[in-house]
Amino acid sequence: MNKFVFSYPTKVYFGNESVAQALNIALADVGKTVMLAYGGGSIKKNGIYDIIKELLLNAGKNIVEFSGIMPNPTYAKVQEGAEIAKSNNVDFILAVGGGSVIDCCKIAAAQAKTDEDIWEMEFVKRQLPKSAIPIGAVVTVSGTGSEMNGGAVITNEKLNIKTGLFAGAPKFAVLDPAYTLSVPFKQVISGAFDTLSHCMETYFGKPQECFISDEINESVMRNTIRNIRVLLKNHEDMDARSELMWTSAMAENGILKIGKVTDFQAHQIEHQLGAYTNCNHGQGLAVIHPVLYRHIYSESISKFARFAKEVWKIKEENEKSAAEKGINALADFIKEIGLPTTLREMGITNKSCFESVAKSCNITAGCCKKLSSKEILQILEECFDNLAAA
Ligand code: NZQ
Ligand code: ZN
Repeated sequence: MNKFVFSYPTKVYFGNESVAQALNIALADVGKTVMLAYGGGSIKKNGIYDIIKELLLNAGKNIVEFSGIMPNPTYAKVQEGAEIAKSNNVDFILAVGGGSVIDCCKIAAAQAKTDEDIWEMEFVKRQLPKSAIPIGAVVTVSGTGSEMNGGAVITNEKLNIKTGLFAGAPKFAVLDPAYTLSVPFKQVISGAFDTLSHCMETYFGKPQECFISDEINESVMRNTIRNIRVLLKNHEDMDARSELMWTSAMAENGILKIGKVTDFQAHQIEHQLGAYTNCNHGQGLAVIHPVLYRHIYSESISKFARFAKEVWKIKEENEKSAAEKGINALADFIKEIGLPTTLREMGITNKSCFESVAKSCNITAGCCKKLSSKEILQILEECFDNLAAA
């Protein structure tokens, strides 16, 4: 187990109609001007916008709006949000949406507090912002776990780079499973797979030996898999939606990462692919994971064998064979839940960007095998048609 420092900055309000409780308590001691940030308009259709607006007005807040935050938020959108926050002297940012809205707000909140360009500061100089406007998150689609951490994934369109930047974690997060009922079901499953991916990317990090964080992780993975299956049978099962909303937060709130150097190689490949194709995050991960794992598992056979046994309940004495069966079980599950198994299925119809994606993809320190750009290119090629999955 590696050295670690752990603290918990985000207060969570979980459950039916918890938004009123959260806003009444959490906004009592913040300034008067609140920036209400959201995406392309789903919160107006499902009524969440009206509920929140009324709560803010009743709390005596001035509302400034920042809308139109797109999936895979761009750096230009971050700058737009920062400018609105700055010019209106915003005291607090309320991000209402999924990972895209929350991420965009985290970095806009930091950008609004400095004249220095945040991309330059973080990506080039490797420095973190010193201050940010405080933010709160109301989650309307789960999977990323962004609501309980300080990371934000932003696409710099000019540079063709999609990467993680860091600012403050939300002061509070509202998790009301009923808010997810209007999410297109395909996106619900894609988000839930993102959760499973976060678990796996942490589990297969270093050290490879299993300890408390990994044992908790196995439980979160089993729970996520079980509840995806429940939800497939009954889309409105609120217990399954609740559990998936919490596993989403659990996978990315840092608890599973305690004492680990995480892997996140699949994410790095997906993010760069996203920079070039704007593809859906969870779907991209679903295609990449089995292909990547077939490339790397031989460097971590015992852990992959344990994954097979503890997560997929595979009974197999021979470790290599167990490891392979575990990866096959993951690939079968991806098919079972209707996620794509090839990039082609996702609508990526040509390979022209693969070389650039491979060259610009970050190679992670936590992956059991240090990949080369050439291997990443090979993985992308295999993902394109993925004959092994057919
Ligand atoms: O924009 P609106 O109209 O709100 O529609 C959104 C969007 O089209 C819709 N949606 C959200 N809540 C809804 C709803 N539709 C109906 N009813 C509701 N209640 O869902 C679509 C997807 O939203 P988005 O926020 O893009 O999804 P997600 O939460 O999956 O976020 C993806 C982004 O998060 C990043 C991804 O890379 C991607 O950019 N990630 C962030 C992480 C983090 N900060 O910790 C970790 C992740 O690994 C991930 O990389
Ligand atoms: Zn993810």
